[in-house]
Amino acid sequence: MKFTASLVVLMFFLAAFPTSESAKILGLFTAFCKSHLFLHMPVIHTLVERGHEVTVVTILPLDDPNPKYRHILLDVPKRPKGFISNIIDGSKGPLSMIRTIKKAADITMMQTNATLHEPQMKKLMAEESFDLVIFGYFFNSFQLGVAAHFKCPVVISFIHSPMRILNNIIGNPIESLYVPHMSMGLVQPLGFFDRVQNVLANLVDLALFSLIEFNMEKYYKFNFPAEKYPSYQDMLRNVSLVLTCHHFTDGPIRPNVPAVVEMGGIQVKAKPEVLPADIKEFLDGAAKNGALYFSLGTNARSTDMNSDTIKTIYDVLSELKQRVIWKWEENTPPGNASNILFKKWLPQDDILAHPNIKLFITHGGHGSVVESEYHGVPMVGIPLFGDQFSNMDGVQKAGYGLSLREDEITAGKFKSMVEEVLHNPTYRNKVQKFSRVSRDRPMSPRDTAAFWIEYIIRHRGAKHMQSPAVHMNFIQLYGLDVFGFLFAILYGIFKAIVLIFRKVVYSLFGRSCKNQNKDNSEQKKKQ
Ligand SMILES: *[C@@H]1O[C@H](CO)[C@@H](O)[C@H](O)[C@H]1NC(C)=O
Ligand SMILES: *[C@@H]1O[C@H](CO)[C@@H](O)[C@H](O)[C@H]1NC(C)=O
Ligand SMILES: *[C@@H]1O[C@H](CO)[C@@H](O)[C@H](O)[C@H]1NC(C)=O
Repeated sequence: MKFTASLVVLMFFLAAFPTSESAKILGLFTAFCKSHLFLHMPVIHTLVERGHEVTVVTILPLDDPNPKYRHILLDVPKRPKGFISNIIDGSKGPLSMIRTIKKAADITMMQTNATLHEPQMKKLMAEESFDLVIFGYFFNSFQLGVAAHFKCPVVISFIHSPMRILNNIIGNPIESLYVPHMSMGLVQPLGFFDRVQNVLANLVDLALFSLIEFNMEKYYKFNFPAEKYPSYQDMLRNVSLVLTCHHFTDGPIRPNVPAVVEMGGIQVKAKPEVLPADIKEFLDGAAKNGALYFSLGTNARSTDMNSDTIKTIYDVLSELKQRVIWKWEENTPPGNASNILFKKWLPQDDILAHPNIKLFITHGGHGSVVESEYHGVPMVGIPLFGDQFSNMDGVQKAGYGLSLREDEITAGKFKSMVEEVLHNPTYRNKVQKFSRVSRDRPMSPRDTAAFWIEYIIRHRGAKHMQSPAVHMNFIQLYGLDVFGFLFAILYGIFKAIVLIFRKVVYSLFGRSCKNQNKDNSEQKKKQ
């Protein structure tokens, strides 16, 4: 009897607090960079662990496909060979960020367009339905049409702090007077000339992104014709949630509407996995002097640097007492030094978690910087393109490491920089302090992202948390109509007061004024 009673109570509780039912989720990640997938996939893994039925569509192979979800690898034209080294060459000079964005946007738009015509994708769209679409954003908003097709809520996953296009989509404020633009490398608080630069950068952004949006709409109209689908603008206004790979502890501090959720650090595993045996042995053996980890990330290869630079770096690293793990993608490494282990692929997060790692020599990609900061490892940066320069500026200003451009590398400079960061404890202390602050959160980034995605599913798009700014045009949003209206009223009142004042003054003093004038002129005549 008692047992049944408690069973009833238990059932009541289970009914009162339902867990999210298993949903059918489509993850659409048309990124041409593996580094983007590293940031999008942890959300997928978490959703799978929570029992959802997930289909992942990519144009690049996955490193760790998992039988617990379906993976569809689309066959679309590859990005042109030498694309990254082209970008590296073009990333000198003041307009480099614009050129990089423009090139990247052109490639993504072409590839995303191709995904929509790929037979497997067409079959998926013709035969199946989904409860939610998550898509990896990178200048590909026109694939919002896929969500329009399935008539389901859509969540955007983004690899950085929200940029202008996303802020516009979700109604997030830009705040160009105190939120530094991604490409500027400015650190809060902004001084007067910082603010001038930042506002200008945001204006350039406005122009560039208007052009990109214009192209995106053309692609949308082509792929999702108006007879069958809602308009591109309607779909932009229908995004439920934007997940950003940014956390306020990384800076900058910025206000976010409820539909923007920070999941910065999501690529970092709560617990590191066991390292491959050879790497583990190599690192464990470095207890005395410590070890360095050198990687230029997943896009650039060590050989994208010029061969003299590689030689210089090799010469410096081979003479260190420390052991070095070097991510080297070619067959023949630059030398045979016994303190260096060359490997084509490395589990970066797990290596950075190893207690004997004393320094990370990095290209300064956002993901790498975040992982290094999370594990409290100081950095020496060799930024190559895109946001890597500003990321490393940030690292340097925060005191977590030092940075130099590839063309500035000489044996002397590189050596002294490596020695400085290795032996001066301030870098390590500062980045470890940051690490403690950054890990202190109510929920892990993965659980946070999964919670909000399930929230969107439970509340069928969660329209109640959408900012009204999404439905306002530029004039309304910046109050030009309101200020114009108030100005007109004030002007009217001012005019009326002046008129009344004149009348009153005239009727009270009109005569005496005239008399006085007369008196004055008479006096002057007498003189
Ligand atoms: C998009 O892809 C289709 C199919 O490959 C192609 O016919 C079309 O020209 C592409 N659109 C643009 C704007 O490139
Ligand atoms: C490394 O060692 C191999 C064989 O031991 C040798 O053939 C090769 O030339 C060496 N490479 C360098 C760069 O010293
Ligand atoms: C907008 O999103 C909701 C769910 O969030 C969906 O049911 C609806 O079909 C979408 N509207 C359009 C025009 O796609």
